[in-house]
Amino acid sequence: QTIHLKDYTPFGFEAESVELTFRLAPTATRVLSKIRFLPKEGGDGRFFLHGEDLTLISARIDGAPVTPRLVEGGLEAQVPAEPFIWEAEVEISPATNTALEGLYMSPLAREGEAPGPGAMYCTQCEAEGFRKITFYPDRPDVMSVFTVRIEGDAPVMLSNGNPVERGDGFAVWHDPWRKPAYLFALVAGDLRAHPGSFTTMSGKEVALNIWVRPGPDEDKCAFGMEALKRSMTWDEEVYGREYDLDVFNIVAVDDFNMGAMENKGLNVFNSSCVLASPETSTDMNFERIEAIIAHEYFHNWTGNRITCRDWFQLCLKEGLTVFRDAQFTADMRSAPVKRISDVIALRARQFREDNGPLAHPVRPESFVEINNFYTATVYEKGAELIGMLKTLVGDAAYAKALDLYFERHDGDAATIEDWLKVFEDVTGRDLAQFKRWYAQAGTPRLSVTEDFKDGTYTLHFKQETPPTPGQPHKAPFVIPIAVGLLNPNGDEVVPTRVLEMTQAEQSFSFDGLPSKPVPSILRDFSAPVILERASDNTERAFLLAHDTDPFNKWEAGRALAKDVLCRMVSEGATPDGAYLDAALAVLRDDGLDPAFRALALRLPSEDDIAQTLFGAGITPDPVEIHTARETLSQALAQHAADTLPRIYAAMTVEGPYRPEAEDAGKRDLQGTVLGLLSRIDGGAQAAAQYDAAGNMTQQLAALSCLLMIDKGEPELARFYEQWKDDRLVIDKWFGMQALQAPPARAAAVTDALTRHPDFDFRNPNRFRATLGSFAANAAGFHAADGAGYRLLADWLIRLDPLNPQTTARMTTSFETWKRYDADRQALIEGELRRILNTDGLSRDTTEMVSRILGA
Ligand code: ARG
Ligand code: ZN
Repeated sequence: QTIHLKDYTPFGFEAESVELTFRLAPTATRVLSKIRFLPKEGGDGRFFLHGEDLTLISARIDGAPVTPRLVEGGLEAQVPAEPFIWEAEVEISPATNTALEGLYMSPLAREGEAPGPGAMYCTQCEAEGFRKITFYPDRPDVMSVFTVRIEGDAPVMLSNGNPVERGDGFAVWHDPWRKPAYLFALVAGDLRAHPGSFTTMSGKEVALNIWVRPGPDEDKCAFGMEALKRSMTWDEEVYGREYDLDVFNIVAVDDFNMGAMENKGLNVFNSSCVLASPETSTDMNFERIEAIIAHEYFHNWTGNRITCRDWFQLCLKEGLTVFRDAQFTADMRSAPVKRISDVIALRARQFREDNGPLAHPVRPESFVEINNFYTATVYEKGAELIGMLKTLVGDAAYAKALDLYFERHDGDAATIEDWLKVFEDVTGRDLAQFKRWYAQAGTPRLSVTEDFKDGTYTLHFKQETPPTPGQPHKAPFVIPIAVGLLNPNGDEVVPTRVLEMTQAEQSFSFDGLPSKPVPSILRDFSAPVILERASDNTERAFLLAHDTDPFNKWEAGRALAKDVLCRMVSEGATPDGAYLDAALAVLRDDGLDPAFRALALRLPSEDDIAQTLFGAGITPDPVEIHTARETLSQALAQHAADTLPRIYAAMTVEGPYRPEAEDAGKRDLQGTVLGLLSRIDGGAQAAAQYDAAGNMTQQLAALSCLLMIDKGEPELARFYEQWKDDRLVIDKWFGMQALQAPPARAAAVTDALTRHPDFDFRNPNRFRATLGSFAANAAGFHAADGAGYRLLADWLIRLDPLNPQTTARMTTSFETWKRYDADRQALIEGELRRILNTDGLSRDTTEMVSRILGA
């Protein structure tokens, strides 16, 4: 059952108000609904409500019992042509809901047992989980005002909006803002609040709370609370957006399929994305938590106040909200470092997706299971489109367009057309060509040649986008290309200028130049394209040394490293002296931000090299790539040997731990240096750092260095002993062993981890930490005997009946299979077919595996 964008039709009824009563019980929760529906002009009168895994107890229309027809995916009923009241009572079983969609309980009970006393009720409804709670028009364009009564004995019972009444065994919540059902949430359990408060720009007091289970988690909320307040201030200052309820609640949940969810007034978070302490969280964890808190908070306007008409418009809220959270992080921390990190992630996840069988447009035109489209393309490429739009129209017009968007569409379920129209209205520009970015999949290749004559320098660009599934031919995109020019002596002769490419081939000239310049093209990564330009390592080293654009400065070093690694793999070249000198110069350059230096010294990932080789027509060998990367790291360690101890010492942060960017950057560089040092001192410094570490960043960095050189056995055991009661830290323990196991042993190590008593495969964090990290161990996962493929497939087959969403998502580990040699392809195809032939395979996983196979 494929759903198509072109088939959109509005629902024939308005849902004026919704009253829900929950009588909570682990395996027999009753949900009573009372909804006032108004038939719409021009509707066809067909009354269909979604419903899944519901036991219908009774239904009434205007108080009279009715017997609706139960049909595939819901029910139908004969209804009056006038406004009417629909009532239904259903029964559901949260305690046995391992799919973690709809209403469920966390922690999951052991099979066949009752949930523990600490278990809480919680919900996840986006995208289509509300239909597992009650019969309802579960589509984002049906918006209503919800009043929720929760009956149960839990000390804390929460829902959306503002609290209305609390009594013995019940709580009532009312959300005055119309919202679609996917933003509904309910949480009940024995929870403790970490409280806070915020005064909005118009002087309204908002009570803030982060809710956790009693115990050690209570001491891990302070950072999240401060991040929330920073987010609220930032959205007021930068976008003029104020919060709109009396309370804002966040709840930490251990079993959660994703990062977090922006339910109106009641955000639900994967505990890994909100709980933080210096002892248990790394600098990276802190930064990610800050970004996710901001992301979910920003959804209050971009997602909730203005929502999506249908799920094809998902990028409308996600692309924009990712863009906003990236702006926030850039403001809170370092803008260049954030941009570089985002581009690394974009290439690793989105380019990988866009150049394989799962490629799809930012706004897909069809889907079987919408949960399969919460992808890097929708989110991260979606955010790149917003960035390009802003570059094209300029900051002032962007700000005006956003004001108009909020003014015009507040309360709407909107579309990409609505979004683009506000930019057209504000700027007078025709965005028809720009809209292709939403419709055409694939990463454009932007090739460039140059010539110089009589003081005029010309860049000739050519764009080409390879075919993707269902899209053999692509029309040209409008591409903003930010360019600056440098003199051969290293000075900038032409500062950044944005060239607007609209044709398949187009040239741009700069005149009045004293000599042939060195171009710095695609500054700040101004478009999500693959830039192809004949260059050499002298020029790359020059740009790494002199480019004034921090992104392109980093990019030059990255291109240099990539070129060296690719030649080591494909031609058997030895580590290149130009690279080693350039890297050493960056390491020694105390004028550069330590975080930048850490990024510049990090080699491209093995998967990145495989992607690059494949793009150049070479079949990548994962084991050879691993070896080349190890060899180059070793060569750099030796080349920099004299410098490493000085930098290591200089990056020591004095005083108590602070998660701020400045300190984090120093620790990052120190960790990078420790990695190099470990290759020449046998791990002595790393072992010392492990023993002395006072925070998780340094403890984990030291352990990781030891594992990298195949040591750290005693430290791993000590780590487990120290942290065995902290599930988030133990996730790291599982993760790093699977990720860093030497390729030849990786499958065996991972298999052993899955037999550890702490491995509960039903917990998505633990499953991802173990099997996801293993799949990211490229050389181990792709071991030639196929043991890695088999191991992952076995576990996917086992998880699918319990949790289709997390299973389907992890099938993407196989999405690169067409890159590899015939033997590996045959092995992977065998596993994919084995998964596909599994009896009762979920719709989610069936869709993913079929697409990966190209069926
Ligand atoms: N809207 C949530 C967020 O981006 C994520 C929800 C993911 N839902 C899903 N079905 N995968 O913040
Ligand atoms: Zn989001």
